[in-house]
Amino acid sequence: MNILGIESSCDETAAAVVSDGATIRSSVIASQVADHHPYGGVVPELASRKHMEAIVPVVAQALREADIPGDQLDGVAVTRGPGLIGSLLVGFMFAKAYAYARGLPWVGVNHLEAHINSVFLAEPCPRFPFVALLVSGGHTSLYHVTGHTALELLGQTRDDAAGEAFDKVAKLLGLGYPGGRAIDEMSREGDPQRIKFPRAMLKGPKAEFDFSFSGLKTSVRRYVETHPGEGRQWMAHIVAGFQEAVLDVLLHKLLEAGKSRQCKRVVLAGGVAANSRLRARLREEAAAQGLQAFIPPIELCGDNAAMIAGTGFYYLQAGHTAGLGDDVFSRNRF
Ligand code: KG4
Ligand code: ZN
Repeated sequence: MNILGIESSCDETAAAVVSDGATIRSSVIASQVADHHPYGGVVPELASRKHMEAIVPVVAQALREADIPGDQLDGVAVTRGPGLIGSLLVGFMFAKAYAYARGLPWVGVNHLEAHINSVFLAEPCPRFPFVALLVSGGHTSLYHVTGHTALELLGQTRDDAAGEAFDKVAKLLGLGYPGGRAIDEMSREGDPQRIKFPRAMLKGPKAEFDFSFSGLKTSVRRYVETHPGEGRQWMAHIVAGFQEAVLDVLLHKLLEAGKSRQCKRVVLAGGVAANSRLRARLREEAAAQGLQAFIPPIELCGDNAAMIAGTGFYYLQAGHTAGLGDDVFSRNRF
């Protein structure tokens, strides 16, 4: 089954063709990072307009590169939410019209579920069940996963998402937007143990797998105000200390969740899963605790349409299709 996937939930316009939920035939991503950079964050109205400009050429390129003419497609999958409404609408309406015009079945996909299914687009893939940590710019959530479309939420952030904390700290230090990668790179020059920032572990039965990062962000701001300095080394120690605090919490909760659900396998997905130290530490610490870690390749961690096509395949195969009356949603529904 060849599925055309379309993603436009935030600041990337993406299209991909994936066969049987596993083989990527093409994956095209038009990033708007340069357009939003001067504003220090995503400007929703600007994002919608850029999606409008990019959607047709991006889909055409994905079909061309996949070497699959429109008549050899078996279905269309598109991000339905969560995300920016104006952005989501561009991809969703395009997919709806494209599928209708070609008489193809189509389905709306949850962006978070798709991030987790991205782990099935490269070898080695995990077997079910597993515990998955989704860390992106908008979400930080832990799931017990028993099937491609069967996820139980174990916990989530109560305030900022991990990626949001990276972006806010980067902005505070003038490292630009988005800040995750800049902090990742600069941290390699700093000592992660030199400045001890707080780790919000949120203990207790109802909070065991929840997260909170806004206190950490405030603590970094306070440190910068009370310990003024300058130069790359000064900043490298701050970002390394900040990053280590985020990673300690993420790794602790993911590994504890794996053990508590008797899962031998843990999965990491989402934009922050591109973080080099997080990837290395997870592999090492999971192995030390007798768990197997699965992380998608870096190019599948950020927003892409291959994960949407991959997830859509499981729904379409099971006979789930969307109707012309369906709409997008901004906030997550599970
Ligand atoms: O999944 P994603 O591409 O978009 C959302 O669905 O939110 O995640 C974007 C987030 C941003 O906050 C970005 O700063 C962060 O992922 N990110 C990273 C790295 N690369 C991207 N955070 C830490 N280290 C990285 N290397
Ligand atoms: Zn995402």
